[in-house]
Amino acid sequence: MIVLNHKMAKSYQESIFWMHENKLNLLNLSKKTGQEIIICLSFDALAEAVKIFEETTIKIGAQNCSSYNLGAYTGEVAAISLKEMGVDYCIIGHSERRNLFGETNQDIANKFKLLNQNNIAPIVCIGETQEEKENRMTFEVISSQLDLLMEVIAQNALDNFVDGDLLSVARPNKKITELIIAYEPVWAIGTNQTPDAVYVSKIIAWLNTYFNVAMPGIKTKILYGGSIDPETAKKFSKVNDLSGFLLGRASLDFQTIEKIVLSK
Ligand code: PGA
Repeated sequence: MIVLNHKMAKSYQESIFWMHENKLNLLNLSKKTGQEIIICLSFDALAEAVKIFEETTIKIGAQNCSSYNLGAYTGEVAAISLKEMGVDYCIIGHSERRNLFGETNQDIANKFKLLNQNNIAPIVCIGETQEEKENRMTFEVISSQLDLLMEVIAQNALDNFVDGDLLSVARPNKKITELIIAYEPVWAIGTNQTPDAVYVSKIIAWLNTYFNVAMPGIKTKILYGGSIDPETAKKFSKVNDLSGFLLGRASLDFQTIEKIVLSK
């Protein structure tokens, strides 16, 4: 899986131009390699992007959604609206949202719940800062970023308990069967610094242990993000249980995307 996070790098018109310009190349690449490619855009470009890639293998994702359901929340965009627009994925918990816009783990858990309710797959970003890494707090931080999500997943499993006749809720949520995590060390985002393959392997091994304990039976896809370019993609190509990459800067240039996809 390759997630292209365009952030707010392009204006509305530039985004639309980029998609028309790269549509055929992206379609050929996904066909040739069988890679799932997801383009994550700002809200303004989503509806047009869905039209451009309608009935193709390329999927469209948002970069954020409201942590509230419909209501008096000026300036927000609800998960249900994203679904109605034809969006299939949504990045949540990106470090830029946590750091620049003060998003908390509770906000992210609320978004996670609303996205699942609306049948949009959340791509949950987690990762430690440089300081947390130096203080050997990586696992503590990642676990605090995941714990509330586990509560949502546990409640979802209970709401979908097979003998639903005894439940007061009428199975309101689709059963969560898969979780997509993007491990993005904050110190690697936009810095050209990347961890080595051993470091990423250790994080993935820890995550697999955490998920086996916290949510057995749920499939996980773990992606890596943070200064991915063709060289680093190659470096990580042998890492066990790594399901793909989340690209920031590299996502803006088709030739770079192609090299990254082909390095896997
Ligand atoms: P980068 O961004 O590839 O430009 O480091 C990754 C991200 O922010 O998700």
